[in-house]
Amino acid sequence: MKKQRALLIIKPDGVQRDIIGKILSRFETVGLKIIGLKFEWATEEKVIAHYPETEAWFKKVGERTLTNYKKKGLDARKIFKTDDAVSIGKIVKSWLVTYFKESPVFMAVVEGYDAIEIVRKLSGNTIPVLAAPGTIRGDFSHDTIDLANEQNRPLRNLIHASDTIEDGEKEIKVWFNEDELFSYELASEKFMYSL
Ligand code: CMP
Repeated sequence: MKKQRALLIIKPDGVQRDIIGKILSRFETVGLKIIGLKFEWATEEKVIAHYPETEAWFKKVGERTLTNYKKKGLDARKIFKTDDAVSIGKIVKSWLVTYFKESPVFMAVVEGYDAIEIVRKLSGNTIPVLAAPGTIRGDFSHDTIDLANEQNRPLRNLIHASDTIEDGEKEIKVWFNEDELFSYELASEKFMYSL
């Protein structure tokens, strides 16, 4: 079985609320290995490269938004002036560029078996109000899509965590050079993985 790598980004709301350490410790505590860390001002180019510039990504974000609006009986056209999922995804992406530049962002690359599933589980639902207690978003945030959209901004959901193995590898390349990632053994690995 092969280890996986995932990118975590503590977004400006997490940085500005002084909870970088608390968030990072959840991933350390579960046993994932930190193999890269970085704190930097995001550039527009990097944020654009980070969130896939594809029809599929715009659609996914737009559809998730429309589903949530429907559940709450809200009309997406009032905010977005359209109910086309792809167009909504594009608007959200433009907001993300501004949001990511509100403060430096903190990045970590973590490695471990089933790392992708584990980081997603610990992060919780993208929409904080739907994130279960015990998850990072469930415990530390309470934003909702409709309030965010009324204010023309993205959800402040504290953290980005890679969705898939492929996305993780692509995202890591946007923010890290290969020589900024470290190969070493944790003391805990002996207990977790040795026979
Ligand atoms: P993330 O998990 O980084 O992936 C895409 C991001 O887009 C998501 O977190 C949110 O910050 C943001 N987002 C997605 N849909 C919406 C929406 N309808 N309104 C505001 N922000 C959104």
